[in-house]
Amino acid sequence: MSRGPKVELGRRYRFAASHRLHTARLTEDENWRVFGKCNNPFGHGHNYVVEVSVSGDVNPATGMIANLADLDNFVHREVIEPFDHRYLNEEVAAFRETVPTTENLCVEIFARLKDFPRAKLERVRIEETGNNSFEYSGDTIVGDRQRGNPEGKRP
Ligand code: NI
Repeated sequence: MSRGPKVELGRRYRFAASHRLHTARLTEDENWRVFGKCNNPFGHGHNYVVEVSVSGDVNPATGMIANLADLDNFVHREVIEPFDHRYLNEEVAAFRETVPTTENLCVEIFARLKDFPRAKLERVRIEETGNNSFEYSGDTIVGDRQRGNPEGKRP
């Protein structure tokens, strides 16, 4: 076990994908009310920006937490290749039953990256548009805190 400065490394990746916000748990009318134009049956696309943050101690020989090439290869294999230019609802198994909102995308991408062998995954942050961003650090909410407002409109 080494003892040295713990440093966090953030790296950005990009992919384009389409999705439709729709859930079988709501009626057609409710889906339209909740998701608005994002419920368009033919989907719509985003240029997603994914920021992956990992932490670790700085290797005294290399001066690095992890080799960026190792992180790039891992993220490309686990996320970019399976997600880029895909229709998320159909082509990513996790979203056949789960609405592909960016909240859920954060959770799915975190799960795919958490076993990166060279450093500890701290956070996945996704920009869906220039105005919306979401991040997930692997935490779960315990207790009876109210779940998200199903009538909450997404801009
Ligand atoms: Ni969208």
